[in-house]
Amino acid sequence: MSIAEELSALRDEALDAVVSATDLDSLEAVRIAYLGKKGSLTAVLRGLGSLSAEERPAAGKLSNEVRIALEEALTQKRSRLESEALASRISAQAVDVTLPGRQRMPGKRHVIHQVVDEIVQTFVGLGYEIGEGPEVELDYYNFTALNHPADHPARALQDTFYVRDLSGDRAVVEGESDVLLRTHTSPVQVHTMETKKPPIYVLAPGKVYRRDVADPSHLPQFTQIEGLVVDEGITFGDLKGTLEHFVKRMFGDVSRVRLRPHFFPFTEPSAEVDISCGICGGEGCRSCGGEGWLEILGCGMVDPNVFRHVGIDPERYSGFAFGMGAERIAALKYGIPDLRLFIEGDMRFLRQF
Ligand code: PHE
Repeated sequence: MSIAEELSALRDEALDAVVSATDLDSLEAVRIAYLGKKGSLTAVLRGLGSLSAEERPAAGKLSNEVRIALEEALTQKRSRLESEALASRISAQAVDVTLPGRQRMPGKRHVIHQVVDEIVQTFVGLGYEIGEGPEVELDYYNFTALNHPADHPARALQDTFYVRDLSGDRAVVEGESDVLLRTHTSPVQVHTMETKKPPIYVLAPGKVYRRDVADPSHLPQFTQIEGLVVDEGITFGDLKGTLEHFVKRMFGDVSRVRLRPHFFPFTEPSAEVDISCGICGGEGCRSCGGEGWLEILGCGMVDPNVFRHVGIDPERYSGFAFGMGAERIAALKYGIPDLRLFIEGDMRFLRQF
């Protein structure tokens, strides 16, 4: 094969290789195979020196043309592959603005917690501190120290969850277990007065438990908020003024407050507090059962017998206490007809608050 034939075969082969290179790496491999130090065209160019003087000019010219043609083909192909690579990188990273976004579902506080927070803020604004007590409580704190006589109906099995004596492995018999789930937050009054000296201004929110079947107005577990004030010269007027302030903050200026005489073992005198119905304004309608008033809490002046249990001198100090159900307050504030909605966990309901 003459050198001219050899060169033209090499050129065809090299140009084909350039055409079939599909990416920059394989194109570089083609360049090295022909034009690299050990490349086949390089070898031919090196061999020119050994040709005779007649052959050399033509072969030199031809091989130079082949080299230039190959270099041009390589350059063109490289820039095409580069712009293709860029285009595919851009399209791979492109944001499809027509895709629907990913929906986020931010959490929020349960409506009962929001209402408790609001009540807490009102009383913290009056200078109250927050008090705490256990949910699994001793009979002493839940009943005895709160002046409940031994035969008080609230102590009965059907009203209270007693905790079984595990060591004895026997079912609870009335009067035999002294551990129970607290039925109200009032035991926090006793814990507070055992650990603090007056003046005491304390608010204690927390869960309470009763053996009630859930219905529109009862839940076996609910949230109470207890208030306790002990100081010198505290009167029933202070109690009433405090509650009126609270009711106006919670339900607005138009709401009115009514105190009805009631009985609690641990307060004397005691009262239940009603607010004017927010729907009819006191006229009487279906939501207040025609009464015009809705009960929101129990309260009274701390009974001297309670002070004696915790060693506070009832001749020197007086005080008041109140307890309200947060679910009840929330239901009145938002016009919710059934307390069970608060614990069912239906997001369509809860998201509204
Ligand atoms: N603990 C009472 C109840 O659960 C409410 C109450 C609290 C009444 C404080 C008077 C004083 O019904």
